[in-house]
Amino acid sequence: MADEGASDHLTNKQEEIVQKCALSCTEMDKSDDRGYRKVVFLIGAGASTSAGIPDFRSKGGLYDRYGPDLFHRLTLEHFPQKIYDFYREFAKQDYAPTSVHKALARLNVVKRLRGVVTQNIDGLEEQAGVDTDLVHCVHGSLSRFRCSRSFCDGFLTAKEYKALIPSHETPPKCFMCGQDSLLRPDIVLFGESLNSATLGDALRALVSCDLFVCVGTSLRVQPIASLPIEHVSRDAHRIWINRDAPPDVYQENGFFDLCIQDECDNAIENLFPDLVQ
Ligand code: OAD
Repeated sequence: MADEGASDHLTNKQEEIVQKCALSCTEMDKSDDRGYRKVVFLIGAGASTSAGIPDFRSKGGLYDRYGPDLFHRLTLEHFPQKIYDFYREFAKQDYAPTSVHKALARLNVVKRLRGVVTQNIDGLEEQAGVDTDLVHCVHGSLSRFRCSRSFCDGFLTAKEYKALIPSHETPPKCFMCGQDSLLRPDIVLFGESLNSATLGDALRALVSCDLFVCVGTSLRVQPIASLPIEHVSRDAHRIWINRDAPPDVYQENGFFDLCIQDECDNAIENLFPDLVQ
C-alpha cells in the first residue's frame, strides 16, 4: 500500500486508519468495537473500470469515444437518438460488480455503511446488494427512465424499459402524460440540475461519517468536486484511492489523511481484506 509520495512509511494516524479499516470487516460489536461505525464512500467511474465500463477522462475513456457533448442536455433535446444509442450499447453488456461494490455491500451487511455517494450511473452498487436507501446517485442512474417533462410522473425501471426496446426504433414517448414527450434515462446531463433530494441525502451522509473514502473519481465535476472539502465531518478520517493524486486544492490543504495511488480493487482488497472474498 503506497502512500502519496511513494513513501512506505506510514504516520501514526495512517497506521491507526489502516488498523481501523481492518477492524471494520466484521459485524459491529456494541460493547468493545474499535472499527468505523459510519463509513461513507464517494465513488466515480474508476470504481467500475475493472468491470469493463470505461471512465470518462482517461485515455480511451467515454470522452475519447463519444466526445463530452454526448452528455449535454442539448444533445438530448436536439439529437436524442445519440443518447438512446449510448444506452442501448451500455444495456447490451452484462457488467458485474467490482471489489469496490462488493466491499460496500459487505459494509452494509455488517452495519457499518452510512452511505454511498455515487457519480456513477451503472447501478452496480445496488446490483452488488447495497440497500437502495444508502445509495445516493447524484448523477442519476441508467437503471431508471422518466418522462422528460418535469410535471409528469411517467417512470419505468430499466427492466420494464428493456422489454419495450425491441418495439422502439426511435426514442420512446411517455405513455402517461400524452404530451408527445420522451421517456429519457434518469441521468443528469451537463446543463441540468442535480436532484435536490438526492443531494440532500448525500450531504447528510457526508456530515455524519467517521470514515470517508473517495474512490476512482477525478473529482473535477462540480458540485460534487467540492462536497468533500465543504461537508465531510471534521472528525472523520479521510482516504483517497485512485491511480492519480487528488486535485491540487485537496493536496494543498492536506484534506486526505491517507492517499493510496493504486488500482481501486487492489487498494480496497488490502484495506478491507475480509470484506472482499
Ligand atoms: P473520471 O473519468 O473523470 O475520473 C476517473 C478517475 O478514476 C481518474 O482519476 C482515473 O485515473 C481513475 N481510475 C480509473 N480507473 C481506475 C482504476 N481501475 N483504479 C484506480 N483509479 C482508476 O470519472 P469521474 O470522476 O467519475 O458526469 O467523472 C465525474 C463526472 O464527470 C461523471 O459522473 C460524469 C462526467 O462528466 C456527468 O456526465 C454529469
